[in-house]
This record gives sequence, structure tokens and C-alpha cells, in this order.
Amino acid sequence: MNKAAFFDTKPYDRIYFDALKNDYGVEIEYFESKLNPRTAVMAKGAKAVIAFVNDDVGAETISVLKENGVEIIAMRCAGYNNVDLAAAKGVMPVVRVPEYSPHAVAEHALALLLTLVRKTHKAYIRTRDYNFSLNGFVGFDLHGKTLGVIGTGKIGMTFVEICRGLGMNVIAYDPFPTQSSLEYVPLEELFERSDVISLHCPLTSETYHIINGYSLKLMKDRVFILNTSRGALIDSEALIAAIKSGKIGGAGLDVYEEESEFFYEDLSESILKDDVLSRLITMPNVLITSHQAFLTHEALKRIAEITLGNLKSFFGGEALANEIVSKKKVILNG
Ligand code: NAI
Repeated sequence: MNKAAFFDTKPYDRIYFDALKNDYGVEIEYFESKLNPRTAVMAKGAKAVIAFVNDDVGAETISVLKENGVEIIAMRCAGYNNVDLAAAKGVMPVVRVPEYSPHAVAEHALALLLTLVRKTHKAYIRTRDYNFSLNGFVGFDLHGKTLGVIGTGKIGMTFVEICRGLGMNVIAYDPFPTQSSLEYVPLEELFERSDVISLHCPLTSETYHIINGYSLKLMKDRVFILNTSRGALIDSEALIAAIKSGKIGGAGLDVYEEESEFFYEDLSESILKDDVLSRLITMPNVLITSHQAFLTHEALKRIAEITLGNLKSFFGGEALANEIVSKKKVILNG
């Protein structure tokens, strides 16, 4: 059987991959460590590497993988901003899972939004202490409010449909507008008109810090910002300044720009070293989840099926439907 080295393994990954690996003819060696230039050598003996969002799939890592006989990198996620595509080109193909459950991510964005707007995160704690007071809990109806969606791909459109169900008006920005049912507006107009802004675009050089000091100033007072895409879409320090000034009604963040050192780890016994993340966590109108929007049964099952299917195609010498880098060229870029 062809062997794959699986990095940044969590218990829930093993359940879904172990259930399917034999069906796809792939043997898996699991490592808890993240993939990086130092750990890449652990893949020796494997023909494939299975990596995730916070693994370092940069030029140095790719070079060490190549030296150790790895022939393909299979990302078990949709985003690939952590992969040096140019460095992989001509060295080994990179495949990904382009779509597994847009519902998982969009529904998590809704969970963040409703929690912040109706303050259920605080109500949960208050009632456990037999404090049944409602003081400070006044929310607002989402019905009739304007949602601004940045990025109208699979997840963005799923979120749009959910929010239309709530009776929200939707406007959108996307440099590649494809949805005839949507009102697309320039980015600055979206910032000015939206009551809730939700980020569903990939992280690229154009979208890096798309939420920054300038864009925050354009926004309505008490705006709600949701980020279930990639942390570096938001300039966290600018966000903190805006929250301190009272500009922000709420921020629901499933991702954080420096998350790779912290997210997915239990650091409850340590002193958090990141002052920006610590400050965000202290703010009553900020809700942080640690990159868990994808974490549903349906999504994990699809991730395992598609990743193992990608490897089966590769080992069987078939065309790779989900390739982002082939041996010859970069197919997707941003
Ligand atoms: P998609 O590829 O279907 O849609 C992305 C959309 O963003 C496209 O319509 C594209 O035209 C648009 N876009 C590209 N450049 C843009 C720009 N400069 N400004 C605005 N829009 C731009 O991707 P999908 O599946 O909807 O995923 C969106 C993002 O969600 C991924 O890039 C990934 O970062 C993130 N994600 C997060 C997960 C989590 O667990 N938090 C899980 C899965 C994805």
C-alpha cells in the first residue's frame, strides 16, 4: 500500500481517515507535529504528505520533502495560502479539497453573528450563576439590516442564502462577480452601507488586511464584522483600536492572523504570549473560536473522502481533478 505521512493530527482526523483509508488503498502514519522544515524529514518512507491550514508548506519544507522521497502534497483543506505554489511547481503536485461543506462554515458564521447580536455567550454564563437579570442584553433584529459579503464563492453564497432567510438585505463585493441575484457594489460602498460585514474571500496579496484602519473608518458605527476565512484579512491592531473607540458592535473571529502558534492547542496552563490575541479575548463584544468553522461530521467525512480520493487518483496514475499545482504549472493562484 502507498504510504502517506499525516501532519498536525488531531483525534477527530484519525476517526474519519482511519474509517476510509483501506477503501482507498492508502496507509497512513500520523504525526501530531505540524509540518515545517524541521519536521518534514519525518515523512521519509512516505510517498505522500497530508497537510492542513497551519502547516508550513513553504519552499524549504517542500525541498526537504522532495529529498526524502515524497511525491505529492495533499492539503486536507480548501485554502492554500500556506503553500508556496511557485516552489512546488516542477517539484511535486499539490492537491486540495476545494469544497467539502460550505454549510459548515456558513452556519458557523451565523452562530458567531447570532451569539454576538443576542449576547447568548453572556446569558449562558449568567444563568449558570442563577443571575436571571436581563440588564445589558438588549440586542437588535437582523431582519431588515444590511449584510455586506466580501467574496461570493461557495461559502459566501451559502451565507447569503441563510441571511436572506433571516430577512436581511444583501450587498456584495467580489472582483469576479458571478451571481445575477446579488447587488454587487464597490468595496468602499460595501463598508459604508453594511450593518454586518462577513469575509468569505481567500487570503491573497490583494485581500491581506482588507479590514484595516482606513476601511474601519468608512464603516457604520456599531458595525458587526465576521471572519471565518483567514486571519490576515484583518489588521488585528486596527480592529482593537476600532473596538476601543466604540466603533465596533461585535467581532466574530474564527481565524486570527497569528493563529498558527496557538489555535488547535490546549494552552490553558500557559501564559498567552500574544498580546493582541489576549486583548481581543478580553473584549466583551469579541467572540473568538479557534478555526473550527469546518468542524462538522459531514465536513470531516468529505475531507477524508476527497483527500484519499486525490491520493488514489495520483497513485493510480489518473488525472488529478483537485490539483492546484501540477508538476509543470501553478493551476490556481489565490
Ligand atoms: P471560493 O473559491 O468558492 O470563493 C472565494 C470567492 O472569493 C470567489 O468568488 C472569488 O472570486 C472571491 N475573491 C477572490 N479575490 C477576492 C478579492 N480580492 N476580494 C473579494 N473577493 C475575492 O472559496 P470558498 O470555498 O467559498 O472559501 C472561502 C474561504 O473560506 C477560503 O479561501 C478559506 O480561506 C476559508 N475557509 C475557512 C474555513 C474555516 O474552517 N474557517 C474552512 C474552509 C474555507
